[in-house]
Amino acid sequence: MIVVRPLVGADLDAVAGLECALFGSQAWSHDMLVEELCGPGRTYVAADIDGDLAGYAGVRFDGDNADIMTIGTSPLHQRTGVGRTLLRALVDHARELGAAGVFLEVQVDNEIAIHLYESEGFGRIGRRRGYYNGADAWTMRLQLRPAGGVIGQDRTMVPLVLGMETSCDETGVGLVRGGELLADVVASSVDEHARFGGIIPEIASRAHLEAMVPTMDRALDKAGARLADVDAVAVTAGPGLVGPLTVGTAAAKALALALDRPLYAVNHIIAHVVVDTLVHGPFPERVMALVVSGGHSSLLLVDDTVHVTELGSTLDDAAGEAFDKVGRLLGLPYPGGPHIDRLARGGNPDAIAFPRGLTAAKDQATHASNFSFSGLKTAVARWLEARQDSRQDIVLADVAASFAAAVADVLTTKTLAACAKHDVRTLVVGGGFSANSQLRDMAAERCAEAGVELRIPPVALCTDNGAMVAALGAALVARGLPASPADFGVDSTLPLTQVMLSP
Ligand code: KG4
Ligand code: ZN
Repeated sequence: MIVVRPLVGADLDAVAGLECALFGSQAWSHDMLVEELCGPGRTYVAADIDGDLAGYAGVRFDGDNADIMTIGTSPLHQRTGVGRTLLRALVDHARELGAAGVFLEVQVDNEIAIHLYESEGFGRIGRRRGYYNGADAWTMRLQLRPAGGVIGQDRTMVPLVLGMETSCDETGVGLVRGGELLADVVASSVDEHARFGGIIPEIASRAHLEAMVPTMDRALDKAGARLADVDAVAVTAGPGLVGPLTVGTAAAKALALALDRPLYAVNHIIAHVVVDTLVHGPFPERVMALVVSGGHSSLLLVDDTVHVTELGSTLDDAAGEAFDKVGRLLGLPYPGGPHIDRLARGGNPDAIAFPRGLTAAKDQATHASNFSFSGLKTAVARWLEARQDSRQDIVLADVAASFAAAVADVLTTKTLAACAKHDVRTLVVGGGFSANSQLRDMAAERCAEAGVELRIPPVALCTDNGAMVAALGAALVARGLPASPADFGVDSTLPLTQVMLSP
């Protein structure tokens, strides 16, 4: 008989052993396990068969969504229903806690697991390129209750909005009805840029051209909708790379014209904020938003979901960009952000006192809500050089952890100071960099201390995707705003205060 119970400290050695057996070099070490298990919002369970640890699984609660972190079954107990029992235990737990949905990632060639998840009601909502050390992953989702905004409404009366995103290297198409996420499909060209150590706009543009129609077809398929069902189209008009934006907006214009539907040309960065309404329901009247990505680190005050005041931004590198550059210094593959994150989890964040940019008293008057990360990147480079010159050992995990802690510290300190100053009780964090676990953990801890509600969408919705564009489009449609003019042009530096291109 399989007995499910909470995972306890005494299980750690057995779990670390299983991790090694299952994931080899990708396994979490004993220390990483301790850190993960003790992280905020985690629940880990164990499955015993005759007193033996047959499997373990964990879930992280993120506002009112649950993210399944891992499900591992001992090779000795495969095909005995341990995985399904653990999955059901986590889903039941999520339901008891009132979660709106449960997300997980699974390697695309792991057919047994995919079949298991699908048979338990999970649907595929997106594909993540290179998620598992080079192998792609499906993001899957189980809806436990309707997302905010459509409860009690007649679904057929709420417009279906198709969103397209092509500002960088991800071709994203999403479908949203009211506040409900119906499909989110992403094709990425990131692998094609890896050997150049950065995005090559021409390569990205061509990849968008090739991926757009198949991505659109898959999204419609997932949502169970036909093109003719689409009531409005939304597309990223900026900020972003001109070539990629041009491909996306041309496709959106052609679609809107052919379907005779309104077209909303929207701001990519604001879409990174509004996507949160799909998982955590409508925003309160005013929220603070921190958008952190490879291209942006911005602090915004957002009123009634679509009115934006910019409080500050980075003066030089964005947070993700700084991670990618430090990743290069540490010899990690591009993009370095996720690699540093993983490395940092096994290091000491207090090992090296790296500088905190623009936090000196003299910066308070003019730069209280601005960021600067290029000095920090230089400090890491100098530190590494000095160590190499004096032939001292370098513990990469400590460098990564100390660097990541400096970035997370500055971001959270300045953001919470702005919340206090403007008396805002809700913080939304969005953008690809909000996948970063050091930022997530520090923000969760400090928001809880400050009494600020923290809303961060699941990782799959933080990186560039079409659902976020559809979500912003749906918010604009719901507010009765007129569509963009048919002849709008892309704007690679679209100001963040301009939420859409208006007539
Ligand atoms: O928003 P996004 O997908 O693309 C744009 O820049 O618009 O953000 C990608 C950025 C990259 O710099 C990537 O390295 C970083 O986010 N990133 C991370 C993590 N996941 C993505 N940085 C640190 N830790 C992560 N877990
Ligand atoms: Zn982005």
